[in-house]
Amino acid sequence: MNRRPRPRGRLKPSSTAVGGLPVNAVFLVGFMGAGKTSVGRVLGQRLNWVFEDLDDRIAAREGRTVREIFRDSGESEFRRAEHAALEHVLHELRGGVARIVALGGGAFAQKENAALLRVSCVSTVFLDAPVEDLWQRCCAEARETGAERPLLRSVAEFRDLYQIRRSAYSQALLRIQTGNRTVETIAAEIAETLGLNKIAEPTEQGEVE
Ligand code: S3P
Repeated sequence: MNRRPRPRGRLKPSSTAVGGLPVNAVFLVGFMGAGKTSVGRVLGQRLNWVFEDLDDRIAAREGRTVREIFRDSGESEFRRAEHAALEHVLHELRGGVARIVALGGGAFAQKENAALLRVSCVSTVFLDAPVEDLWQRCCAEARETGAERPLLRSVAEFRDLYQIRRSAYSQALLRIQTGNRTVETIAAEIAETLGLNKIAEPTEQGEVE
């Protein structure tokens, strides 16, 4: 079995991951508005690792935006494209380039994706926050940037979906609370807890999303 034991408490600083496996990838998981992209970007800068958002890879591979995929082909087609994109990233990791990957909010809740990440022995980190905060962040982002999330509908649906997915997110190797913390603080905690080498100093500070 390729399973890695889940860490209890803090991990010893080391350039190898839990269970002695090399850490060359950190996958950030969690609900919409958890700050996966903003934390991932800062963590990438801090470690001098490549950062990517899986949704961007999906859009590039499909030649249309996530919103267009949902609108024209439906959620099941989006999930197919998401799984294929994840397989592709994991395949590229074998080339050895260290990277941080922000997954879309539904990716880790799909059993086949979680299983793929587990057997790939990469580190998964659940960015958690109260659902009301997540809703407020998504609404603020929609107002400020015009970002349209296909699954951002009513607050009631948002809460329901969060409850359905929460136990899946909890299967991640680490869980980090993000409420009222800066992205830099969160990125620092991830780097320290996973014992990752700090190659570059942080260059950006800011609140989560
Ligand atoms: C989704 C979240 C989105 C994006 C897609 C589906 C979800 O990503 O992948 O709209 O199912 O929760 P973010 O979590 O970055 O918003």
